[in-house]
Amino acid sequence: EAYRTHPVHVQHKHPDLNSLQELPESYTWTHTNLDDDHTSNNCGESVPVIDLNDPNASKMIGHACKTWGVYQVVNHSIPMKLLHDIQRVGETLFSLPSHQKHKAARSPDGVSGYGLARISCFFPKLMWSEGFTIIGSPLDHFRQLWPQEYHKYCDIVTQYDETMKKLARKLMWLTLDSLGITKEELKWFGSKTCAALQLNSYPTCPDPDRAMGLAAHTDSTLLTILHQNNISGLQVHRKGAGWVTVQPISGGLVVNVGDLLHILSNGSYPSVLHRVMVNRVQQRLSVAYLCGPPPNVEICPHPKLVGPNQPPLYRAVTWNEYLGAKAKHFNKALSTVRLIS
Ligand code: SIN
Ligand code: FE2
Repeated sequence: EAYRTHPVHVQHKHPDLNSLQELPESYTWTHTNLDDDHTSNNCGESVPVIDLNDPNASKMIGHACKTWGVYQVVNHSIPMKLLHDIQRVGETLFSLPSHQKHKAARSPDGVSGYGLARISCFFPKLMWSEGFTIIGSPLDHFRQLWPQEYHKYCDIVTQYDETMKKLARKLMWLTLDSLGITKEELKWFGSKTCAALQLNSYPTCPDPDRAMGLAAHTDSTLLTILHQNNISGLQVHRKGAGWVTVQPISGGLVVNVGDLLHILSNGSYPSVLHRVMVNRVQQRLSVAYLCGPPPNVEICPHPKLVGPNQPPLYRAVTWNEYLGAKAKHFNKALSTVRLIS
């Protein structure tokens, strides 16, 4: 309520960004819409790159989560072909004619399907991007988009989903290990995780300096695993350094700490604020695997990280409950579940 600035219907009628020769007023972000430190930093620091085959991977992940809230992984054993295939799905989908894409539009109060960035409603200006959210099977939507070939694309999504699930569990396990928590000490972790897949496109933009691909936010996940094409644009915010660009590395995957890991770690692994800038020359595509706990599991600061000198900083929440807080308070959601200020 406090932050919603757009009615939900803007999700439905938006222009085809590829056809615009100049930036419409509704997409023009001025300094008042952007944060003070809008300018990107050039101080040479870069997001840590972690080799999953390194015997110290867990320690390195812990350090990256503590100091950056983000890292890139290499040697993650996801086949290159699968990374290419899922990029192709995004590429093919976003290059469909606008009216075709709208056949798979997200419903006004729904989550899955095609539309503007779901965080649009919190900002006075629109973002230079389009997205497609997949929860569960994309079958119904894909049948609308590709009446003939939807099977092919569904298969890729299913395969990507299953493969990412394994990687997410491995990364979560290494992250927990870095906190001194074993699988046995996090009971639900052995059973299941829950996930959504988010395809994003950032078309070339006639006036990139005054546009915003995706405005600053933290993810409501435990972890987000992001696959980007070779075009830079993603920036993470770092205390003391400002906005730092995450340079794409071929075959590398970006891993973000989300708000639920922030809570689980009792604040020692802070979720990372990130945003996406656009450019005039090349379309940027990304695929985010949003990983969270199963529906009924409550996330709270792990008992091992709580003691007489370390009171729990957050109350227990389920993913759904937290998403409700996010929908209402957006980037202030974490502070609404905080116990001690
Ligand atoms: C996101 O934050 O959801 C997407 C980031 C990206 O496209 O790089
Ligand atoms: Fe994000």
